[in-house]
Amino acid sequence: MYIHVLGAGAGGGFPQWNCNCENCDGLRKGTIKATRRTQSSICVSSNGVDWVLFNTSPDILQQIQEFPALQPGRAIRDSGIQGIILIDAQIDHTPGLFMLREGQVKREIYCTKMVYEDLTSGNQILNILGHYCGVNHHEIAIDGNDVSHASSFEIPNVPNLRFTAVALKSAAPPYSPHRNDPHPGDTIGVLIEEISTGKKCWYSPGLAEIEPHLPPLMNQADCIMVDGTFWTNTEMLDMGLMSKTARSIGHNPQSGPGGMIEELDKFGSEKSVRKVLIHINNTNPILREDSAERAILNDHQIEVAYDGMDIIL
Ligand code: MLT
Ligand code: MN
Ligand code: ZN
Repeated sequence: MYIHVLGAGAGGGFPQWNCNCENCDGLRKGTIKATRRTQSSICVSSNGVDWVLFNTSPDILQQIQEFPALQPGRAIRDSGIQGIILIDAQIDHTPGLFMLREGQVKREIYCTKMVYEDLTSGNQILNILGHYCGVNHHEIAIDGNDVSHASSFEIPNVPNLRFTAVALKSAAPPYSPHRNDPHPGDTIGVLIEEISTGKKCWYSPGLAEIEPHLPPLMNQADCIMVDGTFWTNTEMLDMGLMSKTARSIGHNPQSGPGGMIEELDKFGSEKSVRKVLIHINNTNPILREDSAERAILNDHQIEVAYDGMDIIL
């Protein structure tokens, strides 16, 4: 199974257009050891030809230009992208759909009912796409009464991959009618399995808490890619950038009790597992490759995703 990181940054990317934080300023000036990152997206394939895109970042056109496997090669209108899974309806994960509006063939979009509702109400993007290429919506079934309910599906033109989705704790987007009233399916995590080899990758770029129903799925994974947004719970508060904590906007920070480092330490005792942080906010000190925080991650064998990173399982 091929996993290609198209964008490893969180909302705003790195550097963020209006941000003068130490990281963004330092990257622009070339005074820190770090590389730029576009907004959060990966694509996955078993045969290296037919890909599923996870999320459609506002940076999707640049991301496609930098990854030839997604570019046309077979017909006058063509793409390696055979299906799109949206793990939530956030702005760093959806506006790229506007950029994928050309063509006569409908976009095959897999998302939960909650995400579909947000993308046809608070944000009308799927309705608007109906005036261009059109959309085939496939519902990822989440049982609202049973969060442990996992939903498995395959995507017809993406051979040899199976996807198992489960609801998890994060947050609906700020524009969502239920931003402060979480529903199962606002955000999902997905276990991606290559059927012929049994290799698996867990992907959850928005993850506020590892609830008890997640380890049984995450434990199966050969690679765990999780929310790497913030280092501390009060990162945005401390910098005066936002009045909310990381956890309250759906992101478990890396450091501290119950943080992602402590959680990730629980995995990988039975078999070797790659642990990768993705969706890194531009304020996060782990972006500086020589930072003390990055050294702590190294000690815990936790990797930091970067644009263009390839993981082959
Ligand atoms: C998030 O992950 O919390 C959102 O993408 C934030 C945003 O839209 O800027
Ligand atoms: Mn985000
Ligand atoms: Zn910044």
